[in-house]
Amino acid sequence: MLTIKSRSHEYSVEEFQTLSCALRSTDRSRAHYLIDRSIIQYYNEVIASETELSRTVLIEASEENKAFERLTPIFLELLEKGLKRDGVLIVIGGGVLQDIGCFIASVLFRGLRWELVPTTLLAQADSCIGSKSSINVGPYKNQIGTFYPPYRVLLTPQVLQTLPFDEIRSGLGEVIKLQLLNNKDGFEELIDDLNRLSSDTRFSIISKWVQRSMEVKKPYIEQDEYDRGVRNLLNYGHTFGHAFESASHYGIPHGIAVILGMLTATFFSARLGLIPEEYYFDLKQKLAPWHKPFGAKLLKVDRSAIFSAIKHDKKNTGNSINCILTKGFGCMEKHSVDFDGELQPAVNIFIDQEINL
Ligand SMILES: NC(=O)c1ccc[n+]([C@@H]2O[C@H](COP(=O)([O-])OP(=O)(O)OC[C@H]3O[C@@H](n4cnc5c(N)ncnc54)[C@H](O)[C@@H]3O)[C@@H](O)[C@H]2O)c1
Repeated sequence: MLTIKSRSHEYSVEEFQTLSCALRSTDRSRAHYLIDRSIIQYYNEVIASETELSRTVLIEASEENKAFERLTPIFLELLEKGLKRDGVLIVIGGGVLQDIGCFIASVLFRGLRWELVPTTLLAQADSCIGSKSSINVGPYKNQIGTFYPPYRVLLTPQVLQTLPFDEIRSGLGEVIKLQLLNNKDGFEELIDDLNRLSSDTRFSIISKWVQRSMEVKKPYIEQDEYDRGVRNLLNYGHTFGHAFESASHYGIPHGIAVILGMLTATFFSARLGLIPEEYYFDLKQKLAPWHKPFGAKLLKVDRSAIFSAIKHDKKNTGNSINCILTKGFGCMEKHSVDFDGELQPAVNIFIDQEINL
């Protein structure tokens, strides 16, 4: 069990063998549920026997559904199904459900107890800790949000067995990012393990890196929960990644967009002389298997939509673009760069010449 310190309360990350065991540990008499519709498809029996369908709201996990405009019917359904301020909201799903559930729990009745059962690799290894909710506004991703951690995170590596492989790769984007923020040994060990992933039938490799990812993330979020300082470094790859993701209308999954975004940031860092070119070439070669075939998809994405999204990144101030660049393993830095003179040409060259592997 891992304990995370937050400004509002400490919360625990507990591991369970099965989804049934996780759900049995909750207070069913006070629970209402927000559940990813596809979880019902795979775990119908467990959900039917361990939750209350009359107190459940089902949501399809899509970026469109985590838009601010789509939240009103969810609030209404929860209220109509009897959720009160002494209730508990149990959220079962990946990052999309987490963002919706966290946001609702943070504002409904000015703060409601909520617990999270993350069901994707991305949510288990990364987003389940850190308190953030991020909600889209129209085409602009993650522009609204709150900091409101769950009271418990119930981890069940078993549920990852049904996750499509592209979603595993998407989760690996954040896992890889955290080891690049950690150190060279961690990154090399991860890449070695990933090369053996196809034989990992019992998900022991994945479970190991879920734990290791949280260990790397924990000090950042405990020191700077509200993302005013050192936590910004966790956004390595995200200025570009979010732009690729939204400009592709989410055809490039979040974590894979982060991999492409980290490569862009690293290419840009090499052009600015922050790291030797060899560092970038080595990373490009090691990450290639984990973004294919989405790199080719990026070539077809409307370039003006990418640049518009970069300019709208919420980390920007004035006319300059704030992005996290790298000086090597465990050595990320925040830089403010000129859009026209520096950033736009680098992104164009990256997409035109570097990604067509
Ligand atoms: N709040 C945060 O701290 C934070 C951090 C990173 C990312 N995010 C957000 O998370 C979202 C991406 O989340 P995600 O990658 O977890 O994807 P997701 O929630 O969109 O789920 C991906 C797909 O997998 C399906 N799925 C989920 N669990 C499954 C399971 N166990 N078996 C089979 N299918 C399953 C879903 O229905 C969906 O089709 C993005 O919107 C991103 O902005 C939030």
